[in-house]
Amino acid sequence: MSTIERRPGRFISFEGVDGSGKTTQAALLAEWLRGQDFDVVVTVEPGGTAVGEQIRSILLDHRNRELAPEAELLLYFASRAQNVVEVIRPALARGAIVISDRYTDSTIAYQGYGRGLGEPVVRQLHRIACGDLWPDLTFLLDIEPELGLQRARRRGALDRMDDQAHEFHRRVRQGYAELAAREPSRFRVIDARADVASVAQAIRAAVRSFLSL
Ligand code: TYD
Repeated sequence: MSTIERRPGRFISFEGVDGSGKTTQAALLAEWLRGQDFDVVVTVEPGGTAVGEQIRSILLDHRNRELAPEAELLLYFASRAQNVVEVIRPALARGAIVISDRYTDSTIAYQGYGRGLGEPVVRQLHRIACGDLWPDLTFLLDIEPELGLQRARRRGALDRMDDQAHEFHRRVRQGYAELAAREPSRFRVIDARADVASVAQAIRAAVRSFLSL
């Protein structure tokens, strides 16, 4: 899908349940690629732009308990639409490697599977918000949701989404597993229980072969 669009850059995303270590690994990969003289742009969702950061604070605020699932879905895409226009497309157009900490696969897993809104509506909104822009390569850092949440709790990083029941997080993980099984050429599933250095090494090996380094 992603290769249809002609653009010189490369788009890599990181996905996984909360506390899977995506953010750390995205930063380590960026550092490594910069060391190889690549132009690298790191972005995060929700967020990534000034507007996106404001949307992020609404989404993750524990006080917004009454946020309707449909409103939540649209806010994630509002943040993403801004990120695509302001950050991702311009970076890809100039030939950079874009590394995104979450993208639409998160919305399919969390809102589509987790909230039960279904995948078709998420894909429909993706077309409106992002056109046909999909990552070329996606790392799914796989870990039991309980373990991930424990890690997030330890670093004091629990947000409104983390307040959801265990069942919700199990559906999210299941959603990710199905996405990865359906698109094996884009997804690389990495066991996120391993230590930071081993996970980073596995990611580098995959990127090396992806970029033919
Ligand atoms: P993130 O900042 O990645 O949290 P963490 O570092 O704890 O993984 O993401 C914030 C939360 O938003 C996270 O619980 C996942 C959720 N989320 C969705 O539900 N849908 C989406 O489309 C995105 C991008 C994130």
